[in-house]
Amino acid sequence: MKKITYAVIPVAGFGTRMLPLSKSVPKELLPLGNRPAIHYVVEEAIAAGIKHIVLVGHAQKSAIENYFDINAELDTQLRHKGKDELADSLNWLPDDVTVSMIRQGKALGLGHAVLAAQPIIGEHNFAVLLPDVVLDPFNTDMSADNLAFMINAFNEDGHSQILVDEVADEDVYKYGIAKLTDTSHVNDVSDGINASFGVVGFVEKPSLEEAPSKLAVVGRYVFDNKIFDYLAHTKASVGGEIQLTDAIDALISKYGVNVTIMRGDSYDAGDMRSYMQAFVYFAQQQLANDE
Ligand code: G1P
Repeated sequence: MKKITYAVIPVAGFGTRMLPLSKSVPKELLPLGNRPAIHYVVEEAIAAGIKHIVLVGHAQKSAIENYFDINAELDTQLRHKGKDELADSLNWLPDDVTVSMIRQGKALGLGHAVLAAQPIIGEHNFAVLLPDVVLDPFNTDMSADNLAFMINAFNEDGHSQILVDEVADEDVYKYGIAKLTDTSHVNDVSDGINASFGVVGFVEKPSLEEAPSKLAVVGRYVFDNKIFDYLAHTKASVGGEIQLTDAIDALISKYGVNVTIMRGDSYDAGDMRSYMQAFVYFAQQQLANDE
């Protein structure tokens, strides 16, 4: 099977939970330590073998695209001043990686945002990374390993893969929650090991009582291209939005989908409280590494 080299990163959200920080700066560009949050997400994708990154946004998000572009004027200025090392560090994106942006048009939900990338993705299978969630990049290379594991698993058995992690009772309502085909071996999975399980379906943002498990969708997916067919026919549901979760449920009933249990830690950079905690963690790690 062909390698997965395309990834979609939806960046169209208004970031209302991050106001006032996100009023004039896209939430994806808010700092985690010394880099914008989306920098780590793109690095994670590249480390897992992704070569083409498709951002799905709108007019107010063009600063994100600019972040991944070469600023020729700044580059010339820095080199003129003998700051070649700094200039080189800004051009970190590998030459064989492209970052492009496509606009969503109407803001009709996450499923609609992923579908908006179809003109660039074409017939390829692809990954989706939600930029609100940043996997811990300091914990060896575990964060990249999660996506690489999912891509390998997909290449082996052809089942789309969704990354999940167990969350606390009080956080269940914030996520898509997985219902596994067979839960008997989940507790056998030791820390630090990825494992893949069949899934019956997902419930988007359930109450604790309705939740079929505490395994929450973390925001990393590897999809067979067929997901586009389902997204094209998905109607608005929870929150009046076209939900990715609904299209996944349709994909499950026809082809089967697996979940991968996450290794390492993830940080929610789309919620003020957890963003602030994440910022402190990232800054501490980077200050310690500088010493
Ligand atoms: C989205 C997904 C949800 C997932 C979450 C992860 O929700 O719909 O299934 O658990 O991302 O962050 P959102 O946070 O965009 O409302």
